[in-house]
Amino acid sequence: MQAFTFYNPTKVYFGKNAIDNLAKELNNCGKNILLAYGGGSIIRSGLYDTVTAICARCGKTVYEVSGIMPNPRTEKVYEGIEICKKRDIDLILAVGGGSVIDCCKGIAAGAKTERDFWQAFYRNKEECLAATPIGVILTLPATGSEMNSGSVVTKWDENLKTDYTSDCLYPRFAILDPTYTYTLPRNQIVYGAVDTLAHIFEQYFSAPDDGNPSDYISEALIENVRDNVGKALENPEDYDARSNIMWDSTMALNRIIGCGKNQDWNSHMIEHSLSGFYDIPHGAGLAIVFPNWMRYVRGNCLKRFVRFAVKVWGVDPAGKTDDEIALAGIQAVQDYFASIGAPTTLTEVGIPAERIPEIAAKVELTPGGYAPLTVDDVIKILQAAV
Ligand code: NZQ
Ligand code: ZN
Repeated sequence: MQAFTFYNPTKVYFGKNAIDNLAKELNNCGKNILLAYGGGSIIRSGLYDTVTAICARCGKTVYEVSGIMPNPRTEKVYEGIEICKKRDIDLILAVGGGSVIDCCKGIAAGAKTERDFWQAFYRNKEECLAATPIGVILTLPATGSEMNSGSVVTKWDENLKTDYTSDCLYPRFAILDPTYTYTLPRNQIVYGAVDTLAHIFEQYFSAPDDGNPSDYISEALIENVRDNVGKALENPEDYDARSNIMWDSTMALNRIIGCGKNQDWNSHMIEHSLSGFYDIPHGAGLAIVFPNWMRYVRGNCLKRFVRFAVKVWGVDPAGKTDDEIALAGIQAVQDYFASIGAPTTLTEVGIPAERIPEIAAKVELTPGGYAPLTVDDVIKILQAAV
């Protein structure tokens, strides 16, 4: 196993009524709270009233940044930074999905510096030395942002969606109540599931192949997502299914299953560029990219794809070459995405083939899990996805 450092200070409160722990956390911080949320789902569900009532009981002064959009943009981060600086905010309370949480991480980093948050952190990847503490109340299981140090923000006029990671940005606490996910529309359940699976794939398809327990945990998580997403789609108030999905998504990106592994993340980088140009949901982009990335790179790690096909997707290896087994496993992934209603082609989300070179040129490529990709490789992967 490769050497690694594991650090994760986020305290997780999981389960029905986990919100009962909010007052205790609020009592550990100063008076001024920045409540951050999206386009209104928490108002419609009643969670907004619950949270503001607890803040009031704890004697807090609450300021708000609302209307945080999916694929959050720099404008919202600047808005939050200004409030933090003007109002001397002690805690940022992110109530929502990954977009709200990620926007809050940008705000938290920007609030404690005179540097421009976008230029310093997201563009230049400079070190973040201090950040306003963040608390999370999660309503959408997908990104793992509730228990990790990453954030993804878009500068729309540059078509640039990029990430930033810092130990300063781990949420101080995260409240995960599966009942808050009952109101999710069907497409968000699907995108969340695809994102969770994609996070697992990014870590699972990477060297070294040395019997690392991470790989076995990954296989179990994939199976668990598949089993429970079907149940949640059928019965939105299936508490056990919702609980399992919620913990799967957190586990998929709280860095545990990446320990000792190279990790890949190029499919994510390609997706970020698609969203940077076309503002598509992250999970939709991943469902389109991942099977095509898999077909393209399978020769670099055929044994891993064979293991994946047989162990995770039940492909019968009898009478097949290794490549045929690998391809059958990849097809099973793509069929699964289609079966739950995720798009699997660029055409379905309105992205024309002509834009591919421009989109590919903006991809922030990583060294890869087994082998690097070039821009030309990205073009071929996306052309196969048309
Ligand atoms: O804005 P509201 O009204 O709250 O509605 C949201 C939004 O429209 C809705 N929603 C959330 N919880 C709901 C709900 N609707 C009904 N009931 C609920 N309980 O869902 C819509 C999508 O929300 P969003 O936060 O955008 O989704 P998600 O959690 O998938 O976050 C996606 C963003 O996270 C980034 C993605 O790139 C994308 O920008 N990622 C962040 C990562 C990280 N920080 O570690 C890693 C990921 O790979 C990803 O890149
Ligand atoms: Zn993702």
